[in-house]
This record gives sequence, structure tokens and C-alpha cells, in this order.
Amino acid sequence: MVQATIHFPRGFLWGTATSAHQVEGNNTNNDWYRWEQQEGRIINGHTSGLACDWWGGRWKEDFDRAAKAGQNAHRLSVEWSRIQPAPDRWDEDALDHYRMMLRGLRERGMTAMVTLHHFTNPIWLEEQGGWENEAVIPHFEKFTCIVVEALKEYTTLWCTLNEPNGYLAVSYALGLWPPGKKDIKLSFQVTTNQVRAHAAAYRAIHRIQPEARVGIAFHYRSMVPSHPAFPLDHWARGIQHRLLNETFPRALVDGILRFPFKRVKVPEAANTQDYFGLNYYTRVRVAFDLRVPGQLFGRQFFPAGADVSSKGYNANEPEGFFEAMKWGLQFKIPIIITENGIEDAEDTIRPRYIAQHIQQMWRGVNFNWQVKGYFHWTLVDNFEWERGWNHRFGLWELDEKTQIRRKRPSADLYAEICRENGLSTEMIQKYCPEVMQKMFPV
Ligand code: BGC
Repeated sequence: MVQATIHFPRGFLWGTATSAHQVEGNNTNNDWYRWEQQEGRIINGHTSGLACDWWGGRWKEDFDRAAKAGQNAHRLSVEWSRIQPAPDRWDEDALDHYRMMLRGLRERGMTAMVTLHHFTNPIWLEEQGGWENEAVIPHFEKFTCIVVEALKEYTTLWCTLNEPNGYLAVSYALGLWPPGKKDIKLSFQVTTNQVRAHAAAYRAIHRIQPEARVGIAFHYRSMVPSHPAFPLDHWARGIQHRLLNETFPRALVDGILRFPFKRVKVPEAANTQDYFGLNYYTRVRVAFDLRVPGQLFGRQFFPAGADVSSKGYNANEPEGFFEAMKWGLQFKIPIIITENGIEDAEDTIRPRYIAQHIQQMWRGVNFNWQVKGYFHWTLVDNFEWERGWNHRFGLWELDEKTQIRRKRPSADLYAEICRENGLSTEMIQKYCPEVMQKMFPV
């Protein structure tokens, strides 16, 4: 039997990613809080409630878990509505709380990455039209300055926006997240404001902290035409790929937003990324379908036989991850995997999902692709947006009512990977022998 260990470069970042609203609990001053109170918005009427109770102090035990499990980094986000509860009010206690958490990471020997915006907006901002109103640009810049001044002692690694492309698709095309609109034209306006807000924040961060490394976490969805020989499937796949995957990040290279039938110049956004943050979850097939105009005539699905989670939301498609990194090379900056994971309460797919994705990352690293770190989504089960507590992405299981955590086998596998700074055939034999032959064919 083959015996091998694949290794990563020294200093590689291994961690998990979280976001404020999903873990803190008692966030009652943002658009998501309001959204959760409305009937029919969240599956089974779930609410974020106490979430993982990080605001109540349980971040300590969870950071202990992460550190003991060999993780040397953590990506978290700050909640805008806590720091700026009203347009003219800044909350020093909230900033202190984040300072304490970042100090907590440092004391545990972990590098922090801080995201400034991970989907949620303060209610006061929402009432001004949120990201539809270009007033958001100076607001976001000011917020960024306050946060960076307050936290710069603890980190140099900043992520301005989490998945602006995902936010646009789900909030403004599918209407599943606040503000719940289905208006692709309006989404172009929001995209423009987000690109400009990012550019303003990028400059502000560098003014305050010249050594900062600033980027965005992009959602890359790998898409394959359903029938390779059918031109309409290629067309549908192409338009979705360009709009979802490419429009935003390319504007950060050359300052041009290429919408269908329209170009918008955003020159201030050119060259405003120091690393490329990549969130990758899955790969889908795309078939041309006249019945889905809202999805630009491209119906997405998993092919028969795909390794799909029991919830059917993501499939284990490691080659799509390799493709995502390869695609990310065009930006010519180091890549950080800012999210990667799968919903799997039973932890049946996750071990092989982790092992196979990390193997793909290693393939890239071996081509000397500058991949610098990996943040698994996520540490502990958390509030999964419109899917509430129904989808479980944690290395640790959480009973949100009792706040009791229980380790899943994947947590041990990931700990072995982090400690080894690599992946071995022994680990595969132990946690996911079913993919041994696929990963190391003999
Ligand atoms: C988001 C996370 C979310 C995860 C799993 C990502 O797109 O950034 O907030 O929990 O997907 O669905």
C-alpha cells in the first residue's frame, strides 16, 4: 500500500472562518435581526438567537478548541451595527470586546484575519437604502477607519467585504436575504457601490496601516455546461460564470465593471487587492432552461452520482476547487482560501471533503501557486442564514439550546492536518478510507 505525506510550505495558515452574526448571538440592531422576525424568511422559523454565544464569552472556549486542534489562524468578522449603533454613535465597549477577542487569538498564538462586512447591515443604514444608496461609500469608509484604528495593534490582515458577489445574487436576484429584492438591474447599482466602497476602504486601511494586506473574500462557484456539445448550455454557463464569478474581481484589476450590455468605470478600484480571498464550496452543472429567466436561463444542478450532502446544498467536488485556484492565478497576487466546507450534520462526507480539497490545494502549491492559507468553514455549527440551524458546517457540533459542543471526527482529522502542516495516507486510512484509492491510485 502507498505510504506518503504531502506537506505545505512553512508558515502556511491553517484555521477556520466565522462571521459575527452567525456566532455572536443577541445581534438585534441589524437587517438580519429584522429579517429573522418576519414569517417565512428562515426555514422552520429559526432565529440566530444566542448563536454560539460568543458575545456572552464563549469565544474563549472555542478559541481554545481551535488552538488545541493545531490551528494557527482564525478569520472572524466585526458587526457594524454594534460598533456604530446609530449614524452619530460609536460604541467603545463593542470595540473593546473585539480587542479582547483579537488579544485572545494572539495569546493562543493565532494569526487573525478581520472581515469588515459579512452580509449584515445596521438598521439605520438599511433605512437609508443600504448598499443601493451611494451614501454607503463614505459611511463604510468611516466605519473602516474607526475599526482599523482600534484593532490595528492585533492584525494586518483585512478583508473588506465577504462574498459581495454572493450577497448580490442572494439579496438582489434570488431575494432570499434582506432586502429581499429580485431586481438584477438594481444589483448592478449595488455592485458599483460595493466596488467603490471597497476601493475607499482599501486606501483608508493603507493610510492607517501601510503594512496591511487587504483583500476581499470572493465566492467562486465552479460551473460546467450540462452537455459539452450543446452551445446553449455553454452560453448559459458563460453568462452565469461571468456575472457571478468575474465581474467584481476583474473590476479590482482594471477599474471596469462589465455588466451585460453596460460598462461602468470605477478607476479608483484598479489594483486594490493585496491577496485574493477565495471561498469555494462546490461545482454545479448548468443547463439552458427557458423556465428560469431569473437565473439567466441557466438551471443549476448536481449530476446523478455526485457526492451530495444529505441537505443537497453542496456536493464534494474537489476538482472544482483546483479549477477555482487556477482561475484565481489571473489576479497575480497570493491566494488565501478564506472559506471551504460542507453542511454535514452526520459528518459522513466532511472527512473526505476535507482530505480531497486539501489534496487539490497541495497540487496547486506544488506548481508553485502562491496559496498562503486555508480557513475551513467552520469551527462550530452556526446560524446558517436563510437555512437557520438546519445546515451544520461545524467541525464541532453545537446544540444551540444548551450551548453544548461535541467534536465531530472531522475536527480530529483537521487537527492532524494542521499539526503536520500536511496530509498523510495514514490520516486518509483512518478518517476516510473510502477515497484512498481515488486519492493515491496504485
Ligand atoms: C458564507 C458563510 C456561510 C457559508 C455556508 C458562505 O457563502 O460566507 O457566511 O455560512 O457560505 O453556507
